[in-house]
Amino acid sequence: MTLEPNIAIGLTVVFLLLVAGVLVWKGASMVKYFGKTMFEAKRAQVATEDIELRQRQRQTAAAGSQDGLSEAEKTERVAGVFHSVAESYDRMNDLMSFGWHRIWKDHFVRSLNPGSSPARASSPPAAQHILDVAGGTGDIAFRLLHHAHVVNRNPDVRVTITDINGSMLAVGAQRAAAQLPASQQAALSFLEWDATRPFPAPAPAPAPAPAPAPAPASSPNSTHQTGAFGSTTTSTGIAANSIDLYTVAFGIRNFSSVRAGLAEAYRVLKPGGVFACLEFSRVDEASLPVLGPLLAGAYARWSFGAIPLIGQLAAGDRDSYQYLVESIARFPPQEEFRAMIEEAGFVVGGKGYENLTGGIAAIHKGLKPL
Ligand SMILES: C[S@@+](CC[C@H](N)C(=O)[O-])C[C@H]1O[C@@H](n2cnc3c(N)ncnc32)[C@H](O)[C@@H]1O
Repeated sequence: MTLEPNIAIGLTVVFLLLVAGVLVWKGASMVKYFGKTMFEAKRAQVATEDIELRQRQRQTAAAGSQDGLSEAEKTERVAGVFHSVAESYDRMNDLMSFGWHRIWKDHFVRSLNPGSSPARASSPPAAQHILDVAGGTGDIAFRLLHHAHVVNRNPDVRVTITDINGSMLAVGAQRAAAQLPASQQAALSFLEWDATRPFPAPAPAPAPAPAPAPAPASSPNSTHQTGAFGSTTTSTGIAANSIDLYTVAFGIRNFSSVRAGLAEAYRVLKPGGVFACLEFSRVDEASLPVLGPLLAGAYARWSFGAIPLIGQLAAGDRDSYQYLVESIARFPPQEEFRAMIEEAGFVVGGKGYENLTGGIAAIHKGLKPL
């Protein structure tokens, strides 16, 4: 049988169109199939990595303070870490937390309301001595001074920044000289000290001079001298029962003994004085049903996966940032830390802490009883 050429061409075209249609249809579903499979495989890989990272986080947490280091070794390790990160510390803080640490610090200081007036409006604003422990490059101390002097208009508030690490304090002193008005610089002093050891007592007040001397601009606890940190005031010591407010932000987890640090905070605070701590903590998965696990996974991925890498790329120091991340995982969770604060003798109100950003960080407060 022979077909007319036109009919043959027509049938061939129809056949080819059919084949092309089938190929497109099959191809699309194959692309969809392989695409989906690849996506699912990637998702499974990400989930496995998340589980591994969170396991690592939990293992580090379970190891607790037993990081295999003696207290002296831990102190030395921490000194080394902060000595090497001092110059890059502020820049890295922004990079690692997307600037979020600023929001937490602002909130922390606002919640403490330094320099606030007493309940009776007729009374003059009370003088306060604040000890900012592990104060590093001064982020908290500068905010405390600004809030007291500018927001609450109370120039009678002074802050002593204390830190175990002279390199961090030196950067803090440079920043203070560059950023703070003279009145706030005069209300700031520095003390290089390990906060797990009893603070030195202040040097005795100088014997009264025979002729009337100009009134010193600073406290009896400090002397104006050109100390280790340039032209800034160097504190000579902290007396027992002398401090109104003890702050420690992102520092206590590095202490070789958290209990010794809390005991010393208790000793130097006045009765009625406040201990306030801002520290990385644990994401509260239970109270955030859907978001909690997601946030915890993303946080584990970010801290264990990304931060050491950023440390390596931006500051050329992977090990120090790896240590910082592990020290976060090792620090006790909210309830446990609250119990430690109570054991040190502080009275804790309500729940005793406030979670920030789902518990990534938390504020703990305790009051030294009257
Ligand atoms: C992460 S930085 C925090 C600095 C500052 N508070 C802030 O929020 O930006 C931690 C600081 O804790 C200090 N530090 C660690 N162990 C300490 C100790 N035993 N006594 C005093 N400071 C300590 C470190 O030297 C470092 O400056």
